[in-house]
Amino acid sequence: MKTLAAILLFVALAYANDSSEWGQGGGRTSTNCTCGYTNKEAGRIVGGRNTGVNEYPLIAGITYRGRPSFIFCGGTIITERHVVTAAHCNPGPGKALDVVLAEHDTQSSRESKTTIIAVQSMINHEQYNQRGNTENDVALLVLASKIPFQRTIGPACFPKANLNIVGSKVRVIGWGALYSNGPQPNILQKVDLDVKPISDCSKVYPGITAGQLCTYTLKKDACQGDSGGPVIWLDPATNRYTVVGIVSYGYGCAQPGAPGVNTAVSAYRDWILNKITQTVPGVATCQNK
Ligand SMILES: *[C@@H]1O[C@H](CO)[C@@H](O)[C@H](O)[C@H]1NC(C)=O
Ligand SMILES: *[C@@H]1O[C@H](CO)[C@@H](O)[C@H](O)[C@H]1NC(C)=O
Repeated sequence: MKTLAAILLFVALAYANDSSEWGQGGGRTSTNCTCGYTNKEAGRIVGGRNTGVNEYPLIAGITYRGRPSFIFCGGTIITERHVVTAAHCNPGPGKALDVVLAEHDTQSSRESKTTIIAVQSMINHEQYNQRGNTENDVALLVLASKIPFQRTIGPACFPKANLNIVGSKVRVIGWGALYSNGPQPNILQKVDLDVKPISDCSKVYPGITAGQLCTYTLKKDACQGDSGGPVIWLDPATNRYTVVGIVSYGYGCAQPGAPGVNTAVSAYRDWILNKITQTVPGVATCQNK
């Protein structure tokens, strides 16, 4: 009896922690292409907040060409040819960039087979930082060739207009520093944050706009190197991850009272969709039906 109880308890715990269904669809609404999926069975979480190997196929690492193990910014795959990121990640003209896909541990080439694709162009928002407050911090990377979508590489779902997720949990993933000015981890990290009213960010930072997403959770944050990377939300309607934000800035990292500021993808939806059509007319984002 005791054994049975123990086994039942074990099963219950295992069940409670079984997240293999996350991001796999099956919600009451479907999307018009396969997006925002995760791989949970593929790898165990190694440390505290390490991701599993290829857990988030939607992430792109942005690198200088020829330096694939130094990811200086993150990005999110949204079509077969486009990655969305932050404008402040733009190193300026003359720097050849690549994206690294299906990366997990930047210092190992054994755990995951990565794909490197050249960036053809990086388009910054025309009004980026016009008022000097890092506003309109959004950019689109146009890739030189098609991303081979597969189990380990695929797009995030694209948000609808006027998406309001204040009060929801979002997840930020990146290879950013483990603490302010600290070392960058080799393994992709994940952290869950709360979306706060935009006024929480206005209290702390000048020039906050409605096109931003304010996140705060005590002792948790994005940090240097996470910039441009995905802020994703598990849409309960689709059970898939939608890219809702782009990591932009904050004072320090996880500094008490200092929320993180992210670009709200929903607010730049039309800008992004227009640039997609202008650069590669044949490709499309995945959205809720
Ligand atoms: C999941 O696992 C963690 C520790 O690994 C445990 O603290 C928690 O209670 C478990 N259940 C749920 C529902 O998270
Ligand atoms: C999905 O739907 C959106 C909105 O209707 C559309 O813009 C997009 O092209 C569609 N994608 C595909 C792959 O059909």
